[in-house]
Amino acid sequence: QQFTAVVPAAGVGSRMAADRPKQYLAIAGKTILEHTVDRLFSHPAIERIIIAISKGDPYFASLPLASDPRIQVVEGGTERADSVCAGLAAISDENSWVLVHDAARPCVRLADLERLVTAALQSEDGAILAAPVRDTMKRGCRLHANKQQSNYRHNSGLQGITETVDRDNLWHALTPQMFRVKQLRESLQQALKEGAVITDEASALEYCGYTPLLVKGRADNLKVTQPEDLALAGFYLEQLIK
Ligand code: CTP
Ligand code: MG
Repeated sequence: QQFTAVVPAAGVGSRMAADRPKQYLAIAGKTILEHTVDRLFSHPAIERIIIAISKGDPYFASLPLASDPRIQVVEGGTERADSVCAGLAAISDENSWVLVHDAARPCVRLADLERLVTAALQSEDGAILAAPVRDTMKRGCRLHANKQQSNYRHNSGLQGITETVDRDNLWHALTPQMFRVKQLRESLQQALKEGAVITDEASALEYCGYTPLLVKGRADNLKVTQPEDLALAGFYLEQLIK
C-alpha cells in the first residue's frame, strides 16, 4: 500500500525573522524543506509528496526538488489549514491515506514514521505523532492592579500562577498526522466553515467528534520556529545523516 504526503510550506516564518521563509534556510548542507522531503521519502510506502508553497515563491523553483517526478506543487493559502486543503485537493483517491507533515520539521525519524503508519492503518480515525509533556505545567493569569502589587509587577506583563495542570494526559502534537483523505478533507471543510480554531489536522477531526490516536514520537522531531532552533535542528540532522 502506497501513501501520499502533503507538506505545508507556504508560511512566512515571522517568528524566525530571517531574510527568507525558514523552510528555505540551509542547515547541515541543504534547505530545511529538502531535509524534510528526504525524511518522508525514507519511508518506502510514501511514493508522492504534494508541497504547498506560497504564491510567487521565488525559492522553490531553484531547488533540485522542483524536477523530482514524485513531487507536485500547489499554491498554499493564508492559514496553514488552507495550505493543507490545497494539497488535499490534488489527491483524487478519497479512500487513500495521507500524511500531513510540516515543512519546518526536518528531523522526523523513519522509526517514528513506521510506528505512525502502523497505528493509523489499524485506527478508525487516523493517528498523529505526539510527545508526552515533560515539564510541570502551569496555568497563568494576568495580574490585576491592586494595592499589594508594585507597579513593576502590574506593568511588566508578568503573569501569576493560578494552578498546576495535571500533565498525565497532556501531549505535544507533532507531525506527521495520518488520516483517510475523505475523513480529513470533510473534517477540515466543516471545521473551517464553522469557524473552529484549527491548529493541526487532528483538531479538525476532534471538532467533528472523531478520536485520532496519539502515537508516542521523539521530542527531537522539533518544529523549527525561532532562531535558536536552527542550531539544534542542525545537530540532530548531522546525527541522522551520519
Ligand atoms: N504554513 C503553510 N501555510 C501557511 C502558514 C504556515 O503552509 N499559511 C506551513 C509553514 O510553512 C510550516 C508549517 O505550516 O511548514 C507550520 O507553520 P509555522 O511553524 O507556524 O510556520 P510559519 O507560519 O511560516 O511561521 P510563523 O508562524 O512564525 O510565521
Ligand atoms: Mg505560522
